[in-house]
Amino acid sequence: MFDLTDRVAIVTGGAQGVGGGISRMLARAGAKVLIADLDLETAEDTANQISKDSGIVECVETDVTSYEDLKKMIGKARDYWGKLDILVNNAYAAADGQQGGALEVTEERWEEDIRALVTSVYAGSKYAIPLMLETGSGSIVNISSVHGFLVARKALTYETGKAAVIAMTKQMAVDYGRQGIRVNAICPGHIVTERIKESVWKDNPSGLKFFEDQYPVGRTGVPEDIGNAATFLCSDEASFITGHALPVDGGLTIQLQENFGVQQVHYYMDNLDTQMPYKR
Ligand SMILES: NC(=O)c1ccc[n+]([C@@H]2O[C@H](COP(=O)([O-])OP(=O)(O)OC[C@H]3O[C@@H](n4cnc5c(N)ncnc54)[C@H](O)[C@@H]3O)[C@@H](O)[C@H]2O)c1
Repeated sequence: MFDLTDRVAIVTGGAQGVGGGISRMLARAGAKVLIADLDLETAEDTANQISKDSGIVECVETDVTSYEDLKKMIGKARDYWGKLDILVNNAYAAADGQQGGALEVTEERWEEDIRALVTSVYAGSKYAIPLMLETGSGSIVNISSVHGFLVARKALTYETGKAAVIAMTKQMAVDYGRQGIRVNAICPGHIVTERIKESVWKDNPSGLKFFEDQYPVGRTGVPEDIGNAATFLCSDEASFITGHALPVDGGLTIQLQENFGVQQVHYYMDNLDTQMPYKR
């Protein structure tokens, strides 16, 4: 197991979902974890679980779309433990309603989404780096997505934002590598979080099965899959890895769309009624 004993880590959006998995896995590897989340109650529940598992953890209410909150978050890590070794920029919540393409996305929605997806990563890192420079080392992990490489229809702001996170990862890796700071991105495939389980798949198990079948490993992900990848990237064993965007996606992005191969198209056309598992 990778050893992060005595490392100080911040996980934004670390209360639940992907961030919850990252908080748990970093703490299990020995890191002191500050969960920075909008939802303080859920953050405290997760912190209690981590403490029961002998982890060292604190929480701070943070909105990553606020520069002031992000500065406060970094200050809290210093107050609690005197330094900062790891920052995981993970938090994001989609605004209500459909996104759309350039014609549908309003100017307000564009500003709001880019602030949540991109500006939060820039600002969190900007305030974290000075603290990392004090010790001459640090690791930043940005949570992008397979959508940072591949695009879905009418999802302009998410796809643009996640691709920008990959570009920013490379830029910061080049800018601060000589000062001991590594910056990497993780690009998760579909991760079945508490929220997604409840809101998307609970009443649609055949839809989830259809989704799982798209993955070469035959399953979708769980938050701990991303937590394990983050733990590795923050460990000394990854000291020669920087500026990388690591797909953690069960092989999703290396595969041709096999369901659209000629044979499969004929099969689907012949069996259309039984091959449409999504609810309509
Ligand atoms: N779940 C997936 O399938 C998946 C796939 C690829 C990438 N991702 C990325 O993983 C990250 C987490 O997504 P998730 O699915 O775990 O979401 P989630 O909704 O399950 O959890 C998000 C957490 O972030 C917190 N949060 C939301 N907005 C915040 C803000 N402005 N400031 C601080 N905290 C905030 C929430 O309170 C919650 O605890 C996102 O960057 C998302 O794009 C998720």
